[in-house]
Amino acid sequence: MKFKNSKSSLGGKILNLDLNKKINSKEIYAIKNFVNQRLVVLIRNQVIDDYKLKEFSRLFGDLDPPAANPYGVNFLPEHPEINVISNVKNDDGIPIGNLGDGEATWHADMTYLETPPKYGILYALEVPKNQGNTHFADMHAAYKNLPNNLKNKIDGKFLIHDSSHNSAGMLRKGYEEFSDPRKTPGARHPIVLTHPENNKKRLFLGRRPYAYVLGMKIEDSEKLLDEIWKHATQNQFTWTQKWEKGDLLIWKNLYLLHKRDAFDPQTRRIMHRTQIKGDNKLV
Ligand SMILES: [Fe+2]
Repeated sequence: MKFKNSKSSLGGKILNLDLNKKINSKEIYAIKNFVNQRLVVLIRNQVIDDYKLKEFSRLFGDLDPPAANPYGVNFLPEHPEINVISNVKNDDGIPIGNLGDGEATWHADMTYLETPPKYGILYALEVPKNQGNTHFADMHAAYKNLPNNLKNKIDGKFLIHDSSHNSAGMLRKGYEEFSDPRKTPGARHPIVLTHPENNKKRLFLGRRPYAYVLGMKIEDSEKLLDEIWKHATQNQFTWTQKWEKGDLLIWKNLYLLHKRDAFDPQTRRIMHRTQIKGDNKLV
C-alpha cells in the first residue's frame, strides 16, 4: 500500500490496495489516518460488491441510512444502508437512483440533521468519461484564509441548515415550498466549528439555498452568506475528483463542501454510496 498526497491542502490517493483482500489492523489504522489528514481520498480500480462496500465502510464507524429520496423508495431493498446515485431509469421509466444528471451545488451531506454523517463513501460502477466531476473544498483552509472582518461577523453565530431540499434542489417528500429563509426547517449549527482536541477551526456551511444566520435581518444574512460562500469555494481551496469506473472515494463530510458537475443525460452514471453516523460533537 502506498499513500500519495495531492498538491492541494486536501486530497490523496491510496495505491496498491485491493479491497477484496484482507486488510490488517495496521493497514486499517494507516488508511483511517490518511483519510483524516487529507479529508478526501481516492482508491482506484476496485471491483467490489455491495457487501464488500458495506464491510469497508464499517471500518470508519456505523452505517447511517440514506436520506429520504424524492421517490420515497429504497433503491436497493436488500441493502437499505446503501444509496444509489444515478441518472439511469429502469424499463418502466422509474429512476434507479438519486440526483439525475444535473449539477449538484456546493453542500455537505445531511447537515440539516443534529448529528449529520461524518464520512461519505462513493463507489463508481458506471461513469461517463470526463464529465460529472466532483469537487471538494477544504473548510479548514477556507477559515484560515478568511478576512478578519468576516471572521468577526460570523463569530458565535448559528446557521439554519435546510432539510426540505436535496442537493439537486428538489423538494423532499413531505415538505412544502417556502420563500422566507427564517422559516427554513432544519438543524441549527455554529458557522465555525472548533475541533475539541486540536482546537483547529473550520467553516461549517451545509448548503447556500434557504440558509439563514440566526438573529440577523434577512438581507444582512443573505449578504454575509454570499460573501462567505464566495470565499470558501475559491479554486485555491478545492480538489477535483475525475471519475473512472472502479473508483472508491472517501471523504470527511463535516470538514468539506462538495459539488458535482452536470453531465450528458444520454450517458449512464451509476454509483453506490454509504455514509457513516456522526456524533453530537460534529467531529
Ligand atoms: Fe452530496
